[in-house]
Amino acid sequence: MQGCGMCYEGPSERFGLFMWPVEVLGARRWREALWAGVEGEVLEIGIGTGAGLLAHPPGARVTGVDGSAAMLARAERRATRLSLDLKLVQADLHHLPFPDQGFDFVVESFVLCSVRDPQKVLSELARVLRPGGEVRLLEHVRPRSDGLTKALKILAPHFAKATWELFPQVGWELLEERALDRFGLVRLYRLSLTDQEPREPA
Ligand SMILES: C[S@@+](CC[C@H](N)C(=O)[O-])C[C@H]1O[C@@H](n2cnc3c(N)ncnc32)[C@H](O)[C@@H]1O
Repeated sequence: MQGCGMCYEGPSERFGLFMWPVEVLGARRWREALWAGVEGEVLEIGIGTGAGLLAHPPGARVTGVDGSAAMLARAERRATRLSLDLKLVQADLHHLPFPDQGFDFVVESFVLCSVRDPQKVLSELARVLRPGGEVRLLEHVRPRSDGLTKALKILAPHFAKATWELFPQVGWELLEERALDRFGLVRLYRLSLTDQEPREPA
């Protein structure tokens, strides 16, 4: 399998523990913004432990996909606790096992930053999205402040990515970009395809 889906195979419990303070400090609110107005056939990529399940709107029929069996097992337990009807699939995000144009929305949180080839994943999303559909991304990115960006590049380069630079390269049009924290570190992106044919990554 490509990417680091398998990297999360072992430490899914630790990942949950790591994310707990993040959830309490803001992620719950960010996830609500991410999912607001999402409906119909929905693909959630990199669903992880299902931390976003509480924000799933009632009108969304969600298929969750992840490379890690341990993450998916936790997501399944959470869905059962919440009495949510959720379809879960184990797969590599670089090669999604879904037909073309099957989803009204594709949603993800903190995933593009962790895959091996984000351009390839974005082109897969273009393939499975129906014409006129929308992609929603919640990502930690390079902040607005140059000083903070410089510090992050040294201390935590993973948190200083200019993710938005990828979008036009694979034919995505930015419908909305919204900073969800005061530093602009966590942002919500809403995207659609500029043309019907997804562009292959260069
Ligand atoms: C940082 S976690 C985010 C989890 C969840 N979306 C959240 O907000 O808590 C990234 C997730 O993407 C999955 N992932 C990363 N690379 C992948 C790949 N190539 N194929 C499938 N899943 C992958 C990991 O297993 C992990 O569950």
